[in-house]
Amino acid sequence: MKNYFEKLELARNYIMNKLPGTPEIGMVLGSGLGDLAGEIRNPIEFDYTDIPEFPVSTVKGHAGKLIYGELSGRTVLAMKGRFHYYEGYDMQTAVFGIRIMKFLGINNVIITNAAGGINENFSEGCLMLISDHIGFISPSPLRGANIEEFGPRFPDMSEIYSKKHIGTAEVCAEEIGLSIEKGVYCFAQGPQYETPAEIRAMRIMGADAVGMSTVPEAVAANHAGMNVLGISCITNMAAGMLDKPLSHAEVMETTERVRKRFMQYIKTIIAKLEV
Ligand code: HPA
Repeated sequence: MKNYFEKLELARNYIMNKLPGTPEIGMVLGSGLGDLAGEIRNPIEFDYTDIPEFPVSTVKGHAGKLIYGELSGRTVLAMKGRFHYYEGYDMQTAVFGIRIMKFLGINNVIITNAAGGINENFSEGCLMLISDHIGFISPSPLRGANIEEFGPRFPDMSEIYSKKHIGTAEVCAEEIGLSIEKGVYCFAQGPQYETPAEIRAMRIMGADAVGMSTVPEAVAANHAGMNVLGISCITNMAAGMLDKPLSHAEVMETTERVRKRFMQYIKTIIAKLEV
């Protein structure tokens, strides 16, 4: 049986043999941002099912594709569809794509997601640059034998989200007249949404937003020395904050409403990101 590292190598080799060069920027496209993949020019597409050893995504609305090509004058490799812990994957599988990116020579990655707003100053549809995260609630993707090829056993996590990239993203927001929030993203295992008591606890801990992805990916990326930019679309106010139940339909509605603006923002950032 192949071990995890051998599986990564097989998948990486398959992809690398079909790419003309090393992509400058990696992207993980969260809910609603999948359409950005359609704007990638001269695309080379890989169905996850065609890549040896690559996991396959099960969630509706998360088509499983890796797309290489040009966006805003840069070469990118985008993951359309990610692997969530709540789907039943272990954390090592959840970060498979990020590690493939590193293995392909990518050192800068933009990770996006949909999240619930915990900060009372936020509103549905706003965008938040992730300044830091709370992830000790989740198992670590780095658990088990350390992969020295990626990074050390006990990696520092003082600056998972690159201050330089956040600065660039702030400049880009100003440039396109977008008001942008900044805050701490808290991981929730899901798939159930949180309880109001959990949201109050997260707020006391210092969280501004909550979601079911990104944290494992950002940890694995940081372990491997990659610079991460994380952006949340606040699709709903978190449980107990408004007098209505949470629903996936609402999350999808908001992502749809914000989609164009979010896409424009990401494209502006890609053009400017220092790699
Ligand atoms: N909680 C967790 N994940 C989410 C939410 C939420 O309120 N909204 C979108 N993803």
